[in-house]
Amino acid sequence: MSDTGTLAGKVAVVTGGASGMGAATVRTFVGAGAVVTLVDWDEAGSQRVAAETGAAMIVGDVGDAGFCDGAVDAVVATHGCVDVLVNCAGVIHRADASGTGGDDWRRVMSVNVDGVFWMSRAAVRHMVPRGSGSIVNFGSIWGGVGAAGVVAYCASKGAVHQITRAMALDHADDGIRINAVAPGEVDTPMLASGRDAAPTAADLAQLAESTIPVRRLAEPDEIARVVLFLASDDASYMTGAIVPVDGGYTAR
Ligand SMILES: NC(=O)c1ccc[n+]([C@@H]2O[C@H](COP(=O)([O-])OP(=O)(O)OC[C@H]3O[C@@H](n4cnc5c(N)ncnc54)[C@H](O)[C@@H]3O)[C@@H](O)[C@H]2O)c1
Repeated sequence: MSDTGTLAGKVAVVTGGASGMGAATVRTFVGAGAVVTLVDWDEAGSQRVAAETGAAMIVGDVGDAGFCDGAVDAVVATHGCVDVLVNCAGVIHRADASGTGGDDWRRVMSVNVDGVFWMSRAAVRHMVPRGSGSIVNFGSIWGGVGAAGVVAYCASKGAVHQITRAMALDHADDGIRINAVAPGEVDTPMLASGRDAAPTAADLAQLAESTIPVRRLAEPDEIARVVLFLASDDASYMTGAIVPVDGGYTAR
């Protein structure tokens, strides 16, 4: 552990840490000196990231309130507190309303909305008595603007933005800062998730050229660095903010 990093000695929990931007956040936080526990339902992926980074891992479903309470309690029992929570676990269903069954809708809401709320509620119960803490949620460009063919995902990310704002107001007096990143198109396994066929390099280049002002996808690290800033004391005057990290997508 680094004792000079931005998060030196801080106890951090990162959901969705087995893949994509969650894994990038785990690497970035460990590099910044944090003591990290990743929480994910993908056991094999969690083991890979834990072995690579030295982070601890807890395997389970963030859509289960009891699991979330237990995971946060376990981190507090081991490390004495939780200083930082990053809610990164998420899923997407790519369809319009007619193609979105009840199970699809519930799955997206369960992970993206319930998961953020259950983990945040469990964390603030420990943070409030200490009078400090920081939470960073993963919203999306599609929490602020609409997109065709992803109605459940758009609804879920709009909810994440509002959980962020409402909880930031509830806990401003408790010394707890709560912010969100709103990434654009990021090169992670989610880009292929829920499609009939994985996009080719040419498909992704075309997507970037036609929709993103900087004409390229983001790398997961480029989002993780903003998460680190928001999580750390460097962002001491920020709470309730939804920070776009989108190559200019929402500047139009
Ligand atoms: N990739 C993008 O372009 C993009 C853009 C904007 C926002 N996001 C958001 O960023 C976050 C990270 O996405 P990513 O692109 O890194 O995706 P990813 O698919 O690479 O990683 C998501 C992780 O969440 C975990 N997860 C899913 N459901 C879970 C559950 N119920 N309990 C525990 N873990 C669960 C998965 O196992 C996986 O490790 C998500 O919230 C996503 O919605 C992604």
